[in-house]
Amino acid sequence: MSDPTATIEKLSLNDLIPEGAHRMRRLRATPQLRDMVRETHLRTDKLIYPFFIIEGKKEKKPISSMPGIYQQTIDEVLKEVEAVQKQGIKSILLFGIPDSKDSEGSGAWHKDGIIQKAMREIKKHFPDIVVVADLCLCEYTDHGHCGLIADGKVLNDPTLQIIARTAVAQAEAGADIIAPSDMMDLRVAVIRKALDASGFHHIPIMSYAAKFASGLYGPFRVAAQSAPQFGDRKSYQMDPANGREALREIEQDIAEGADIVMVKPALSYLDIIAKTRQITDLPIAAYNVSGEYSMVKAAAQNGWIDERRVVLETLTGVVRAGADMIITYHARDIANWLKEE
Ligand code: PBG
Ligand code: ZN
Repeated sequence: MSDPTATIEKLSLNDLIPEGAHRMRRLRATPQLRDMVRETHLRTDKLIYPFFIIEGKKEKKPISSMPGIYQQTIDEVLKEVEAVQKQGIKSILLFGIPDSKDSEGSGAWHKDGIIQKAMREIKKHFPDIVVVADLCLCEYTDHGHCGLIADGKVLNDPTLQIIARTAVAQAEAGADIIAPSDMMDLRVAVIRKALDASGFHHIPIMSYAAKFASGLYGPFRVAAQSAPQFGDRKSYQMDPANGREALREIEQDIAEGADIVMVKPALSYLDIIAKTRQITDLPIAAYNVSGEYSMVKAAAQNGWIDERRVVLETLTGVVRAGADMIITYHARDIANWLKEE
């Protein structure tokens, strides 16, 4: 047997390198070239920033599970909306935390429900900010489920009636976009009909179309005080294992009249975002959820990762997968970082 080392020593580099080989590094040589060939851009105007709104005045309570995010009263929200708008963020998502809850979640649709009050104030002071109203009952029900309950089961059609009423109440209070997040069947169709019948033809629906039953909502449920008091959400939210079913949910919501379809969470479901991009030209939203946020925050606070790099990398990945817009608690940090770049 010949000595392999002796053989390779006889070969020059020219013998080894294929002729005319394409060299991918040519376009990576300088920052200027890298900027020129960059395919995907995370931009501040793609970001939607969430708020958790409580009753009362002059309160801004840190949320233990989500560093940098607060439960705050409407007067405080107004201050932050002003700051957010100055940063170039154009859209916000509102979650309400009512003082009292009941079995039907009536705080969701009441004219003086927390979200309706907040929207009227926000739109009065900041008419240009796009206000997305999350539409779900779980923050308002005493049992913490996203629908009405009978015999320990979450009912679909009776829930639809309350959802329709809530959508109209939100539109009346000034919502620019209605975003149902409950995962009941047929809610998009019902909301569309209810909005149209009430003179709100012009209000778009951003459907949480493929929303998975995810462990990554944990920090949010602390923030929104919306954890189910019994059982789980698996009879309405999707099984994380099911990609084909997610696409059927998306097709169904498009057929029912959704204007924007959402995939949630984002980072474990990039394949769903990418496949959604292939089946529709509708705008796609991705929800970078609380658990995704808090994991990064925790690791960064421990000095284990570079927060800025990791956030920009992962959310650029979400855009690369095909999302047109991202709901993210990192929005204010990202807006600052992108200004510096
Ligand atoms: C309510 C709702 C949830 C989120 C948004 N709307 C949580 C849930 O289904 O329990 C999650 C958001 C997040 O984790 O950031 N249906
Ligand atoms: Zn819910």
